[in-house]
Amino acid sequence: MSFSAQRPVTPFWRRPSTWWIVSGVVVIAAVVAGIAVLGPTTGSLLVKTTPSPSATKSRTATPTPTPTPTPTPVGFNKQALSIDDPNSLWVIVNKHRPLADPTYVPSPLSDAPVSYAYASTMRSEAADALTAMFAAYTAETGGEMMLQSVYRSYDTQAELYKGDDTLTARPGYSEHQTGLAADIGDISGECAVQTCFADMQAGQWLAANAWQFGFVLRYPDGYIDTTGYEFEPWHYRFVGTDLSTEMHNTGTPTLEDFFGLEPAPRYPDQG
Ligand code: DAL
Ligand code: ZN
Repeated sequence: MSFSAQRPVTPFWRRPSTWWIVSGVVVIAAVVAGIAVLGPTTGSLLVKTTPSPSATKSRTATPTPTPTPTPTPVGFNKQALSIDDPNSLWVIVNKHRPLADPTYVPSPLSDAPVSYAYASTMRSEAADALTAMFAAYTAETGGEMMLQSVYRSYDTQAELYKGDDTLTARPGYSEHQTGLAADIGDISGECAVQTCFADMQAGQWLAANAWQFGFVLRYPDGYIDTTGYEFEPWHYRFVGTDLSTEMHNTGTPTLEDFFGLEPAPRYPDQG
């Protein structure tokens, strides 16, 4: 019997091939572990990527603070309504500013449902506001007011005018013709269209509260050099609550002052 020489069996852990395989597995495992740990912060080790702008921004840019809105002061618009158009609630009529059309008649006109001496006809918006004002006065004080004079046509103004230029406007120059002016008195008739009305309860109440209803005292005490008229504590002019409130809040005494108009103490033919 011949025995062929047998090669000794090499245990697998001593074979070089085994160690190549083990080394390969270890290397692959290390690479996989590296990607898992570092990938989220450095990007892929294998693929070059370009971070999106938003991703870059969120990591590197200093957060932009949200601006706090600054309230924009809203100024009063003095051009919101015309001061020339007789149909405008802001029309200004004085000794330098006659009504453009002497025959002007306001519209719509209505009769305020309040007590009156001669008539209660006014521009409808003014009549409504005046009615509310009279009611508020009665509710607050228990007193009652009465209208003395309201809308006056050119012809009516011509009958009233006696050349008393600091008391009565010439026809075509009276804001009573606009339907926006009211001469107001006490229901008793005491001090009607007289300076002493300023000291009566109704006169005081109007001076303090008329602005809330859209009326302004048109000829205040001490402003004859601006308005051209003596103090008329009974004469109120409807301009709407936007303007009356602004004049009240700014302490502006006359429409001429508020709109920056030249004083009108005299008619042009008076020098
Ligand atoms: N009394 C005022 C000024 C007028 O006549 O219109
Ligand atoms: Zn008047």
